Amino acid sequence: MKKTVRDIEVKGKRALVRCDFNVPLKDGVITDDIRIVSALPTIRYLMENGARVILMSHLGRPDGEPKKEFTLAPVAERLSRLLGTEVKFAGSDNVVDDKVREAASELKDGEVMLLENVRFRKEETKNGADFAKELAQLGDFFVNDAFGTAHRAHASTAGVADYLPAVSGFLIEKEVEFLGNAVENPKRPFVAIMGGAKVGDKIPVIENLLKKVDTLIIGGGMAYTFFKSQGLEIGTSILDKDNVELAAELLKKAEAAGVKMLLPVDCVCGKEFKNDTEYAVYSKDNIPADMMGLDIGPKTAELYRQAASDAATVVWNGPMGVFEMPNFAKGTKAVAEALAESDAVTIIGGGDSAAAVEQFGLADKMTHISTGGGASLEFLEGKTLPGIAVIEDK
Ligand code: 3PG
Repeated sequence: MKKTVRDIEVKGKRALVRCDFNVPLKDGVITDDIRIVSALPTIRYLMENGARVILMSHLGRPDGEPKKEFTLAPVAERLSRLLGTEVKFAGSDNVVDDKVREAASELKDGEVMLLENVRFRKEETKNGADFAKELAQLGDFFVNDAFGTAHRAHASTAGVADYLPAVSGFLIEKEVEFLGNAVENPKRPFVAIMGGAKVGDKIPVIENLLKKVDTLIIGGGMAYTFFKSQGLEIGTSILDKDNVELAAELLKKAEAAGVKMLLPVDCVCGKEFKNDTEYAVYSKDNIPADMMGLDIGPKTAELYRQAASDAATVVWNGPMGVFEMPNFAKGTKAVAEALAESDAVTIIGGGDSAAAVEQFGLADKMTHISTGGGASLEFLEGKTLPGIAVIEDK
C-alpha cells in the first residue's frame, strides 16, 4: 500500500502536487475537463487541511520550449471556476524563477497556485536532476496525483521524489485500486474486451491478460490481423503485417491457457475509409476483396453483449470500430450499452474507449473510467509505473 496525503501532516506545509492537466483544447478553450475534475478531491483535501498548494502539470508536447499554444493559463482559469477560489497562475516561461519562488513562499494556508507547463523545460522529459531539484525546492512534500502521466519517468513525476517525501493523491489511489483489483483480484467470470487498430500496440496487454481472464474479446481493426493469421480474406482492411504470426501465437496461447477468445463473426465493411461510403454487413469468411472492415457486425455485437452480461468483471480498452464515424459506431455503442446495463464491475481503460463511453452519454453507468490512456495500458500490462514506484510505501 502506498502512502497518501491522509498519512502525513499537511497543515502549513507546501504541497508540490503533480496533476495530469493534459486536456484537449480547441482555439484555447478546454473541450473536456474530466482530468481537471478528477484532480479536485486531492486539491480540496489539501486546501481544507491548511496546506499551501503548488500544482504542476504538462500540456501537450511542446518539445522543451515555451510555446503559447501549450500554456496552462486556461487550466488555471477552469480550476479557479471549479474550486470557487482563485488559483494563482505562475506563468513563467522558465517554469521556476525568482518570482515563482517568491509566489510559492508567500502562499497562505489553503491557497493554491499553478506553475506553467513543465514541458517548457527540456530537462522535464529527460528527468534532469537540476530541474527536479528546482521544482522540489518549492515544496515541503511531493504529491503525485497524475495517473495519466505515471508511466513517464520525468522530473515532475519521478525525479522530484529524490528530494522530497512522496505520497499519492486520491486519483492515483483510486486508479490503482480499481485497475489493480480488476486484474489481480477479479470477480469471475472476468472478461477483457480489446479493440483498436493494431495488434502490435496491444500485444503486451493481451499477453498479460491471457494469464488472468476467463474470456478475451477482440474487436476493432486488430481483428483483421487475427483473421489473416487464420488464412481468411480481409479485403482492404487494416493489417498489422509484422504481427500476423504473433496473432496466431496469441490464439494458441489462449487455447493452451483455457481462455475463451472471441473474434468477430461478422463485420460492417465499407468501400472507403469515410462515413458516407457504400457499406454492408458480411460474415467474417466472406469479406469482399475491395472492401474494408470498419466495425463489428450485428451478430458479433450480440455475442459480445451476451459475454459482457454474463461477466462479473469487465475491462475494456479500445473501440470495436471507427466510432468517430456514425455509420461505423454501432458496434462500439452496443458494447458500451452492454457494459452500462451489466451488473459487472466495469472498468474502462482510458483513451479512445473512455471517449466513446462519453460520446454515448454512458460514462456515469460505468464503475470506473481511467483518466490514463498509455498509463492504464501499461498498468494492465502488469508494468510498474515510475510515477507510482516513487511513492513511499505505508
Ligand atoms: C496522456 O495524455 O496520455 C498523458 O498526459 C501523457 O502524455 P504524453 O504521452 O505526451 O507523455
